[in-house]
Amino acid sequence: MSKDIRNLISILDLSIEEIDKLINVANDIEKNPEKYAEACRHKQLATLFFEPSTRTRLSFESAMLSLGGSVLGFSSANSSSAAKGESVSDTIQTVGNYADIIAMRHPKEGAPFVAANRTQVPIINAGDGGHFHPTQTLTDLLTISRKKGRLKDMTIGLCGDLKFGRTVHSLIEATLRYEGIKYVLISPEELRLPEYMIDKLKEAGAEFEEITDLEVAMPKLDVLYMTRIQKERFFNEEDYVRLKDTYILTPEKLNNAKEDLCIMHPLPRVNEISVKVDDDPRACYFYQTRCGKQVRMALILFLLGIKVED
Ligand code: NCD
Repeated sequence: MSKDIRNLISILDLSIEEIDKLINVANDIEKNPEKYAEACRHKQLATLFFEPSTRTRLSFESAMLSLGGSVLGFSSANSSSAAKGESVSDTIQTVGNYADIIAMRHPKEGAPFVAANRTQVPIINAGDGGHFHPTQTLTDLLTISRKKGRLKDMTIGLCGDLKFGRTVHSLIEATLRYEGIKYVLISPEELRLPEYMIDKLKEAGAEFEEITDLEVAMPKLDVLYMTRIQKERFFNEEDYVRLKDTYILTPEKLNNAKEDLCIMHPLPRVNEISVKVDDDPRACYFYQTRCGKQVRMALILFLLGIKVED
């Protein structure tokens, strides 16, 4: 099925200029939320979540409500016809007749791509298996641009489950397009970044190192992106239990960090960051959630082709 409308399946579906525009709109939303309060009147967003979520689903819903639109959807495969054996393709062809735009999360890599070929309404990938999570990346880019005042010339440490962590994969894809980004990839051997992502780093000629020790990396970092070990993607419980507490960020481990380090985490956190770090002014992970709503508002407007005039 062909269509002219835009989807967001991978972060590379957006050019750098389009990302800049989304960041600018999100910044305007922060300053003038009332300007946007009726922008999506009579529009409906469907959130189809075949996997658990708190932030992504609720921020999409909150974003649409703050644009004056309405929301419908389901929050688990069990409460949809997927439990009866319905295919993603059939679900999408149905919901495409109800909603103007669809955000979907699915445990299978590539499911949102398949969905996009089955409907005439824009599809947003809200996370597909261990693959990609482009709207988390928009959230992360907005956070970094606000906190650091730039999206280039910095060293980003990515720590934890780099194998299954889809937020990490999308963030790398996005930042590879900016100048002067260096990467420190901090993970246990078993959870290293997948080869297809390493190839992308190499193809782009990016400077990167793979290490296992967070404290060794700490002094170099401008951004530290902590991630959860992705329990649901492990094949056996024993491996998860052995690896789950490999990295726990504590105030002591931050002793040799830069004063303007930006500590990020897509959340949910399990044990990777001690709650004692929450009061450190460098902790940005709850601020990220604020950015997430605003940039999703900007994205919904963009994909629906709605312009809000001054
Ligand atoms: C992440 C995800 O779902 O990939 N959460 C989120 O959307 N903010 C990270 C995770 O689950 O660990």
